[in-house]
Amino acid sequence: MAVIGIVGLGVMGLGIAQVYAAAGHEVLLADAYAPARETAAQRIRDGLAPRVAVGKLPVDAMEALLARLKVVKISGLAPCDLVIEAIAEKLEAKQALFAAVEAVTDAALATNTSSLSVAAIAAGLKRPDRLVGLHFFNPAPVMKLVEFITLPGTDPQAAALARSLTEQAGKVVIACADTPGFIVNRCARPYYGEALALMEEGRNPGEIDAAMVAAGYRLGPFQLIDLVGADINLAATESLQAAMGGSPRYHIFPALRAQVTRGDLGRKTGRGFVYPDPLPEAPADAAAIVLRIEAMLANEAATLLAEGGSTMTGIDTALELGLNFPRGPFESGRRHGRSAILTELLRLEAAAPGDLKPRYAICPALGPALQSPL
Ligand SMILES: NC(=O)c1ccc[n+]([C@@H]2O[C@H](COP(=O)([O-])OP(=O)(O)OC[C@H]3O[C@@H](n4cnc5c(N)ncnc54)[C@H](O)[C@@H]3O)[C@@H](O)[C@H]2O)c1
Repeated sequence: MAVIGIVGLGVMGLGIAQVYAAAGHEVLLADAYAPARETAAQRIRDGLAPRVAVGKLPVDAMEALLARLKVVKISGLAPCDLVIEAIAEKLEAKQALFAAVEAVTDAALATNTSSLSVAAIAAGLKRPDRLVGLHFFNPAPVMKLVEFITLPGTDPQAAALARSLTEQAGKVVIACADTPGFIVNRCARPYYGEALALMEEGRNPGEIDAAMVAAGYRLGPFQLIDLVGADINLAATESLQAAMGGSPRYHIFPALRAQVTRGDLGRKTGRGFVYPDPLPEAPADAAAIVLRIEAMLANEAATLLAEGGSTMTGIDTALELGLNFPRGPFESGRRHGRSAILTELLRLEAAAPGDLKPRYAICPALGPALQSPL
């Protein structure tokens, strides 16, 4: 059994701590904020209580799990094999934290950042080769996917340890490059973006959602935006667009901005694009809506694939596990067929206004990807 350190005891840090403690490891917990340290064990206990109540987790297993947790100072992380940070999403804070951590331990280091560059976080370290990215999804104990980011100079032993401990804890670890949004947060963009484009062309958001749900998606694009919050979706799209040099592939559609300005953010404000209304019947042209959105998903996935560091299977699995998609973008593309996907993208490019035409440009890797084995 290993010793795992977790720094940052917010929603993600506590969830990640629970994952490794449930796998039998000793977990040392640290946070800069005293109330976060003092309430950590109780918050994990409260999170486990419903599973105990329905008999899914025996009381003694819960007590054993909680007994493996211990709050320490940063200096107390010395015996760790792996230290994972889940502190505030600020580059300087993460750099300063890892500088302090590497001074006290020889452990492998991992960041749970969602939007910062792992290389930038590693840059100031004495041993930058010890740092990898382990990007968990919320809620960490439930979500199977962990995106795994290594850098060209990463120490193979540190990488192997971080990967194997996480796989042994029951997660599906998918390698990806250190590029903005990693796999899921990037490849998901067309799901929302193309739905917003359709809406701006006059389509009803409920019908768009109904078309995707009829094609096997658990939630339509607007239902997903309403679940997470239009403000969060806008911030994620803006951050990715800025990181990708303003590319129209991550265009901010005015309909999204207007929704945020109106304050109709989704479930948390009681009204969203479609929430709280039930979805209508799927429209007669549902197949065309699905083809359009899935063509864009496949094109974005091919663009990421062409950049290196990930595989078709990895990208498909990441979207299935990270977003509950019924199939990944490459599998969807193959179902439609290479010719149908390429023809649809050409049609969209021809129909788009001038500034949005590059949004639909076919990635050169798309055609070959849809023909080669997964
Ligand atoms: N919330 C999500 O859905 C999600 C998903 C994946 C990744 N992430 C990433 O995980 C990280 C944490 O997110 P969160 O939502 O759990 O945040 P949070 O605000 O819930 O918790 C952050 C915790 O870190 C502590 N902290 C902040 N700065 C610190 C420092 N310098 N030293 C020690 N402790 C410090 C805070 O006291 C707090 O307890 C971020 O990098 C975020 O981008 C979040």
